[in-house]
Amino acid sequence: MKDKIKYTFPDNFLIGTSTAAYQIEGAWNEDGKGENIWDKLTHTIPKAVTNEDNGDIACDSYHKYKEDVSLLKDIGFNIYRFSLNWTRILPDGDLSHINQKGIDYYHRLIDELLNNKIEPMVTLYHWDLPQKLQEIGGWLNPLLVNYFEDYVRLVFQLYGNKVKWWNTINEPLEIVHGYSEKRYAPYLDLDAMSVDYIAGHTLLKAHARAYHVYDKEFRHIQKGKLSLTLSGFFYSPMSDSQEDRDAAERANQFEFGWFGHPVYSKDGDYPPIMRELVDKRSKEEGRQRSRLPVFTKAEIEEIRGTSDYLTMNHYTSRLCTSGIDPTAKVRFQDANFISHIDENWPSCQAVWLKVVPWGFRDMFRWLKKEYDNQPVYITENGYCDEGEIIDVNRVNYLREYITEMLIAIYDYGCNIIGYNFWSLLDNFEWLNGYSYKFGIVHVDFNDPERKRTPKFSVKFIKNIIQDRIIPQ
Ligand code: BG6
Repeated sequence: MKDKIKYTFPDNFLIGTSTAAYQIEGAWNEDGKGENIWDKLTHTIPKAVTNEDNGDIACDSYHKYKEDVSLLKDIGFNIYRFSLNWTRILPDGDLSHINQKGIDYYHRLIDELLNNKIEPMVTLYHWDLPQKLQEIGGWLNPLLVNYFEDYVRLVFQLYGNKVKWWNTINEPLEIVHGYSEKRYAPYLDLDAMSVDYIAGHTLLKAHARAYHVYDKEFRHIQKGKLSLTLSGFFYSPMSDSQEDRDAAERANQFEFGWFGHPVYSKDGDYPPIMRELVDKRSKEEGRQRSRLPVFTKAEIEEIRGTSDYLTMNHYTSRLCTSGIDPTAKVRFQDANFISHIDENWPSCQAVWLKVVPWGFRDMFRWLKKEYDNQPVYITENGYCDEGEIIDVNRVNYLREYITEMLIAIYDYGCNIIGYNFWSLLDNFEWLNGYSYKFGIVHVDFNDPERKRTPKFSVKFIKNIIQDRIIPQ
C-alpha cells in the first residue's frame, strides 16, 4: 500500500506534452509569415544541419493541427505546451506589420484545444527570432527588450483571455550558444569570452519586461501564470570529497543559477559565486571590466521574483570534478569544473543524452533548496531514438525518470506541479534535423501527408494518465 501511494500522481498534478513552432509547424512562408533565423540558417548555410534538413514542412502541423489535437485528446493529456512563431504574427519582428492570418491560426489552434478540454500552455519564444531583428544584432542588442515587449503585449491582448499558462523564453542557456559556438541559429562564433553573457543579460531583461507587462496590464483580468523556462544537466560530484562537491555546486550555479538566480532566488542578481569567478578570471585576463555584465540595483529588483512558477526542461546529468579543461566552453572554465560521464550510463541516439534517472531526483532537491521550494513544472523530458514504433527504451526511460520525480515529491517534499513529455511528435530536432526522434507519435517524413502513428510509449502514457500511477 505504501508503495502504491508512492507511485501515484498527486491530485491536481498536470500531465501534458510539449512542442515548438519551428520544429513542427512547417508552412514556413505561408499566409504572410516572415523569415526567422531558422529559416535563414537552414536555407543559406550548407551542412549546418544533419542531411541539410529544414523545417519548411516539418510535421505540417500548421495544416494538421486538428489531427494533433485529436491525438492529444485521445492520449488524455490535460495540457499542451506549444510555442508561437513570432514572424507568423509580426513578419518583420516589430509592429510595423501585423499579420492577421498568422493570428487567426493560433486562435484556431487554441480554440481547438479548449473545445477538447486541453489547457494551452504557450511559450512566447522558442528560438525562432525574426530575421529582421537578427540583422540589428539579435539578443546582443539591448533594444530587443523593447521589441519583445511590443510582441508579448500584442500576444497577451490577442490570446490572454484563453491562455492561462505562459512561458516567456525557452532555455536561454541554449539560445546563447547560437552566438558563440555555431550551435543553433544565428550560427555565429563571436568572441566566446563574452557574447554568451551579453546575450544572456538581454534575455533576462526581456523576460522581466514581459512579466511586468503582464503583471501591470493583464493579470488582473486574465489571471494567468508566467515563468521563464530553464534547462540544464544536473551536476553531481564525482566523489564524496569536499573538492568535488564544491565543483558540482559551482557547475549547477553556472548551469541553472545563471538564469535561475536572478529570477527565482530571494536575492536576485547572478549567483554570487558566478559573479566572483567571472570577475576574477576577467581580471587575470587583464580586462578592465568583467566579462559578466553588471545589473544596476534597479535592474536586479526589476528581474527578481518575475515568475509565478518555475519551468524546467531536463534530460540528463553529469559527474563533476574541479579543474579547468582548456578545450571546454568558457563558462565551464569560468566555473572551474570538469564534466565527466559514467561509462555505465545507458546511451541513446543523441550522444549527449545519457540515462541518469537519479539525477532528476537530485535536481529537484537542489531546486527546492535553492529557490525556496516554489512550484516546479517540468516542461520537457524525453528520450531520443532512431524512430522505433515499439519504443521500449523510451518507455523505460520515462518510467524511471517519472518514478524519481514522484520520489522527489513524496520522500523529499519537492513542490512539483506538472510534467510534460518531450515531445508529442517526431520533429525537426535543430542541428540534427530528422535524424533524431523524440516523439511519442511517429511521423512519416517521406509521406507528403506526414502520417502520424502512435508508438508503444503512447500506450504506457495513456495507462498512467488513466490510472494516475506508474506501473513498476
Ligand atoms: C530542448 C529544446 O533543449 O531539447 C527542444 O527545448 C529540443 O526544442 C530538445 O528539441 C532536444 O534537443 P536537440 O538538441 O537534440 O534537438
